Amino acid sequence: MMKLGLFIEGTGHHVAAWRDPDVDPHGRQTLQQYVDIARTAERGKFDLLFMADTNATFGPDDVETWTRTTQASRLEPITLLGALAAVTEHIGLVATATTTYFEPFHVARFFASIDQISGGRAGWNLVTSLAVAEAYNFGRDAHPHHGDRYARAREFAKVVLGLWDSFEDGAVIADKDSGVYLDRAKLHFLDHKGKHFAVRGPLTVHRSPQGHPVIVQAGQSEDGRDLAGETAEVTFTVQQDFDAARAFYADIKRRAVAYGRHPDAIKVLPGVMTVIGHSRAEAQAKYERLQSLLSPELAIKDLSSHFGFDLSTYPLDGPVPDPTPDVEQKGRVKVMVELARRDNLSIRQLYERVYGQRGHRVVVGTAADVADALETWYRGSAADGFNILPLTFPRGLDDIVDLLIPELQRRGLFRTAYEGKTLRDNLGLPYPPNRWAVGRAQKDVG
Ligand SMILES: Cc1cc2nc3c(=O)[nH]c(=O)nc-3n(C[C@H](O)[C@H](O)[C@H](O)COP(=O)(O)O)c2cc1C
Repeated sequence: MMKLGLFIEGTGHHVAAWRDPDVDPHGRQTLQQYVDIARTAERGKFDLLFMADTNATFGPDDVETWTRTTQASRLEPITLLGALAAVTEHIGLVATATTTYFEPFHVARFFASIDQISGGRAGWNLVTSLAVAEAYNFGRDAHPHHGDRYARAREFAKVVLGLWDSFEDGAVIADKDSGVYLDRAKLHFLDHKGKHFAVRGPLTVHRSPQGHPVIVQAGQSEDGRDLAGETAEVTFTVQQDFDAARAFYADIKRRAVAYGRHPDAIKVLPGVMTVIGHSRAEAQAKYERLQSLLSPELAIKDLSSHFGFDLSTYPLDGPVPDPTPDVEQKGRVKVMVELARRDNLSIRQLYERVYGQRGHRVVVGTAADVADALETWYRGSAADGFNILPLTFPRGLDDIVDLLIPELQRRGLFRTAYEGKTLRDNLGLPYPPNRWAVGRAQKDVG
């Protein structure tokens, strides 16, 4: 079955969503807004909720952009997932935590705690941080280089996975008579010493009902893909073109197999903004209402922050110049340039295609139209499912749950009931064995 993630943003994914008459512009920092979103998504049987994050403002490091968009306001997602765990039962709870500005012990503990609190529904989106401005909040003058960030991320992931094995299943004895709380043989130090980290352990959170949280990633560069092939169980991606998405899908699966993993052990979920109406005209009108609110100046600032230089000095209706070689988001910018070259777009036409939805693909139409578009990629080995970006909240999400999901279910493409209790059950992912338990079993057999 198709896997569906819901990418949540308090007001909606279109850059101008907060200006939609049906949207509460204060929704970004109101708990009730997220509770309603989570409950609607669970009613729609989504696999997971996903909250992106940076420890700084998103997008261009530009005050004018902050004053005219919602990019400067963001609740800390792991805190919010803790609250959502209490008001949901089945839906997975995924948030971003950066390997560049956090310590692995913190991240291991945050997500293991959400996993315990939610009964095994947590997922960690491992990123190396795309916001250059994050450096300024952590005593740095500059963002570390792309390659260095990924080298740290690789060791970071190893440490987190090691800490998540600190407690084996059944480690807690809690024998009041003997006064023994833990089985010493099932409690483990990590004693990791590496180039970037020295971490003794053990973690303080017991083994999760799903073994450990699901690891998600979203890197698209060579380094990003390789790390995903080795450690990710879900990979989000920005893809505008079917053939390019198929190539990315095949590449990720091939890398996983090269690391000795089964191709199904990693799910590829491209992002897609869906705009649904009872007619194509109604859907188009919803989309164009927000597109008409786009500011060319802010759009050019945003594209410039991606391309690595100021595009406002180029003719707006002229061709799209090449980005600087050392851009931050290598994968995402490559997708934008390929789109501009494929469709021979001007700078104006490019921002009209990508700025509103931050580079993600957009599909506008009736529920049947959108289901067709998703089914083609799913059956065409370009996706195992999708990370859905509703145009606005709540209305954009209601349209998905009330119109699109029933259409996907009618076609036998999506679940009508949750399979189990944990995020791994939803995604059909195996429960990871505990390395120490495996080691002891092998010794016993030996
Ligand atoms: C769906 C999706 C969600 C992402 N979420 C975040 C995020 O929350 N925080 C962040 O810093 N980067 C986020 N990214 C950016 C990626 O982690 C990564 O930096 C970007 O894809 C470029 O990776 P690359 O340099 O390996 O190509 C996201 C990317 C995608 C496609």
